[in-house]
Amino acid sequence: MKNWKVNSWRKYPVKHIPAYDDEKELNSVLNKLKTFPPLVFAGETRHLKDQLSKVVDGKAFLLQGGDCAESFAEFHPDNIRDTFKVILQMALVMTYSASLPIVKLGRIAGQFSKPRSAPTEKQGDVELPSYLGDNINAIDFNEKARRPDPKRMYKAYSQSASTLNLLRAFSKGGFADLNKVHLWNLDYIKKSPQAKKFKDLEDKIADALAFMEACGITSDFNNRLYTVNFWTSHEALHLPFEESMTRVDSTTGEYHDTSAHFVWIGDRTRQLDGGHVEFCRGIENPIGIKCGPTSKPEEIAKICETLNPKNEKGKITLISRFGHQNVEKFLPKLIRRIKKEGLNVIWSCDPMHGNTIVSTTGFKTRPFNNVVNEVKNVFGVHHSEGSYAGGLHVEMTGQDVTECTGGARKISDADLSSRYHTHCDPRLNSDQALELAFLISDEIKKNSSYSKNAIQAAS
Ligand code: PEP
Ligand code: CO
Repeated sequence: MKNWKVNSWRKYPVKHIPAYDDEKELNSVLNKLKTFPPLVFAGETRHLKDQLSKVVDGKAFLLQGGDCAESFAEFHPDNIRDTFKVILQMALVMTYSASLPIVKLGRIAGQFSKPRSAPTEKQGDVELPSYLGDNINAIDFNEKARRPDPKRMYKAYSQSASTLNLLRAFSKGGFADLNKVHLWNLDYIKKSPQAKKFKDLEDKIADALAFMEACGITSDFNNRLYTVNFWTSHEALHLPFEESMTRVDSTTGEYHDTSAHFVWIGDRTRQLDGGHVEFCRGIENPIGIKCGPTSKPEEIAKICETLNPKNEKGKITLISRFGHQNVEKFLPKLIRRIKKEGLNVIWSCDPMHGNTIVSTTGFKTRPFNNVVNEVKNVFGVHHSEGSYAGGLHVEMTGQDVTECTGGARKISDADLSSRYHTHCDPRLNSDQALELAFLISDEIKKNSSYSKNAIQAAS
């Protein structure tokens, strides 16, 4: 990579990087982090990129989900397990509808830093620096808590490492066995309308497995029935931390950001001449780019070329997040530009970040219907443009929270206060996440005709 160094981003303008008041302490933490073991291995990242290249060709679908911001307070094995369960359930619903493999990517094990709309927050007459994520400062509203503390990166690293350890154990240790789908149901979902639908699916899978078993194909014999690949991702926002986790892969000499398999550049930091694009240009990981109403198609195309000069399939995922009413206005132009340049990308839909409103009770929320509508509109646009809607990117949790309104349980503005736990944006609870998977399964089914058409056109 020409003129790139792991720290060359430091010569570029950067937004949303915290200002620490003790530089010596910051550098000592970063230098120590450089000596810590990588969280992921370069070979895994290459494996993910290979799976993502199949999404580009319409032969797989990407599901990316998890917290808006992980927190130290919510760190608990049950929470990791429950988020993992819901992602598996959503993926199963989608696999069944689309008859396509689902690439499962968590916003987890490192999703800590947040870009904020304002540098300060005011409560009454008191104005303090904004909360920037648990690896930077604390959410409590007092001066000491809001001071960026470099040592919080140690705790974030350690939480990421143990989260990843549990996820690896679940993925490979038998928890994801297709014979155990009935165990993925969360207690509180058992009473929900989604439970019945999921039970029907479980029964169909049990029939298919019984048939396969009779043919001698069991999970003892076929690892694919017993294990899943589960990958991790977060926004590559805190560049000093990402730099310290970036290492040379001794087998190829390439640089990998070993803090996660996949990282993305947020809507507020994707300036072509900015430090975030510069940093991501030199790492081998697959990269996501958020595209919102302010993104210019020609700029997004240039960012893709900068990050992926060889136009490798699976390297770039464009994550559109226009808002349900804005999809038709912005997405077609972006698709046409990317097509015109012949760029290989995955088209993923984030139906969360363009649909945030403030409820009448004062909470940041997202009406479930608007989330569903954005996904439907995005699938519709891809259908008319002849492109493949290849992914879904959601903020969700396995916990029974009340953060997004609507859904089958009709969470109202007044209900939001009862279990509103997010440290940043409102998440779908597991009921709503599963409902979304069912509601868009028809779209996914229609979508799967894409790969058949693509194969026919090529032959
Ligand atoms: C996010 O994904 O949490 C986020 C901040 O998104 P965006 O950059 O799209 O606003
Ligand atoms: Co968010």
